[in-house]
Amino acid sequence: MTIRKIAITTGGGDAPGLNAVIRAVVLAAHLRGWETYGIREGYDGLLFPERYPAGGLVRLLPDAVRGITALGGTILGTTNRGNPLHYPVRQLDGSYTETDLSAPLLQAFALHELDALVAVGGDGSMEIAHALAQKGLRIVGVPKTIDNDLAQTVITFGFDTAVSFATEAIDRLHTTAASHRRVMVVEVMGRYAGWIALNSGVSGSADVILIPEIPYDMEAVAQKIRDCEAFGQRHAIVVVAEGAHPKGEGYTIKEGAHAGHAPRLGGVGEHVAAEISLLTGKETRTVVLGHLLRGGSPTTFDRLVALRFGAAAVRALAEGQENVMVALDPPTVKYVPLAEATRRMKTVPLDCDTMLTARELGICFGD
Ligand code: F6P
Repeated sequence: MTIRKIAITTGGGDAPGLNAVIRAVVLAAHLRGWETYGIREGYDGLLFPERYPAGGLVRLLPDAVRGITALGGTILGTTNRGNPLHYPVRQLDGSYTETDLSAPLLQAFALHELDALVAVGGDGSMEIAHALAQKGLRIVGVPKTIDNDLAQTVITFGFDTAVSFATEAIDRLHTTAASHRRVMVVEVMGRYAGWIALNSGVSGSADVILIPEIPYDMEAVAQKIRDCEAFGQRHAIVVVAEGAHPKGEGYTIKEGAHAGHAPRLGGVGEHVAAEISLLTGKETRTVVLGHLLRGGSPTTFDRLVALRFGAAAVRALAEGQENVMVALDPPTVKYVPLAEATRRMKTVPLDCDTMLTARELGICFGD
């Protein structure tokens, strides 16, 4: 089938590099004589065009994407509450029910004569893309997540930017922690995978790193801090992933699951700090980096991965591929079936080289 018009959507939590993907898609499509249209806020722009005075579907000419490679966020907007197959609809009593809006969505694609879609997002967005592909849409997925937990790609863009920012924050905390002889607890994002905590903690010379993959024992953490003290280091840095949890206990949840939305994590850093203070008598402070990790300009590494992914997505469509996700397999970019993309989550293997390095540096994981 010849391609004349393609659409692009960004879904789920934003990640630095999304705009670089958009730019690469628009320019690579333009080079082939195709038109590119951006869908606002996931699929909402097509489902509810009346909500967008400037249009829910916007033509993206090369001019519209000039200078956006270095820009954080997404010029299209995004949502993690807009799964078209389970769309949350608020009821009068405040509760939510879910509706399948895939039929009107497919009609909107047909109405606008869109021949293919580049869907950029994390595991949830790839599942949606796969479901829509099975209903007949021609789709190529582009993976993103700062958590780096998608198994089929060696890395996702956004991760390097998040780790670089977290490392810089940890560097800054060393001097204030040392001056006051305090324990500084830094909470970073990472729901089910501790990649951000591990990579920034090792690079930033943390003393303790707590990740979801290793349920922790507070006594082991406290002992590490006492050991630091005994060796003359009167301060300590503890990096905690938001999904880290004590042995035999669950996640620290800020807001429960609702309307098809996963529970919002947060607050484990405060608990860890309070326990450290109780068990060691040390003064502690907590810093939550949270959404700061998702903001800002992508690093060079993330820009390049994002541009390569965007160009590869258009190349895939030009080659007649569909229902695939682009993935980084250094030194190249490959295509994996969307069905495979979310089958497995990429958590930190406990015997990976970075974990071994961390152990050899004497970093405690609370086990
Ligand atoms: O998936 C990326 C992520 O940053 C998670 O680490 C975090 O739990 C989640 O997004 C936060 O999402 P929201 O912006 O909806 O609170």
